[in-house]
Amino acid sequence: MVESKPVKLAPSILTADFGHLADQIAAAEAGGADLIHLDVMDGRFVPNITFGTLIVHTMRQLTRLPLDVHLMIEEPERYIAEFAEAGSDIITVHAEATPHLHRAVQQITGLGRRAGIALNPGTPNEAVREVLPFVDQVLVMTVNPGFGSQRFIETMTAKIRRMRKMMDELCPLADLQVDGGIYAGNIADVIYAGANVIVVGSAVFNKTATPTENLAQLRQAVAETL
Ligand code: DX5
Ligand code: ZN
Repeated sequence: MVESKPVKLAPSILTADFGHLADQIAAAEAGGADLIHLDVMDGRFVPNITFGTLIVHTMRQLTRLPLDVHLMIEEPERYIAEFAEAGSDIITVHAEATPHLHRAVQQITGLGRRAGIALNPGTPNEAVREVLPFVDQVLVMTVNPGFGSQRFIETMTAKIRRMRKMMDELCPLADLQVDGGIYAGNIADVIYAGANVIVVGSAVFNKTATPTENLAQLRQAVAETL
């Protein structure tokens, strides 16, 4: 039996107010965010374009929290060094974005950063089995990447459970991250399935309440799972 890991909340700034980024990050910190999740999109791997190293660098000046950079870009190996240099602590590449996943992971760890690999909802866990012994984090996408505020794909709960089992065998110390459509109403389900790093975008940065209040509500829902 592998010990369960402490649950970490990783707010994604995708739906934050970019005109007031410093305030938004301060509010997320006040709410007890453990990491800041940064969604980099290239308009090719996913149908949306967001931001690149400039925002990572800016975020590095705004917070001491670890920066968890989710690269939704083709051929990520071309940019890993730049994202490391900009101040990323964790760099996650998609299994579908490169035929050389193992090499990309080696590149990240070679630069002294934590290496993550991500799987789209349609990609089987088996596709990353051989790379698991080399990674620090596995990201199981629970929506198709590209946009915030999408609906959680229910069949992903069983996939998370199967992935955690495979990881317990091959990389027991690695984190299992989930991303997409998670809010106070379903966060317990993904934790029970074995996820321990939870990305929360629109559930934190929205018009209903402040990021601090939203994170407090999410923390409460996490506490109820213990
Ligand atoms: C999806 C991104 C996610 C997403 C999270 O492409 O990787 O990080 O924006 O946002 P919510 O929590 O609103 O689904
Ligand atoms: Zn993400």
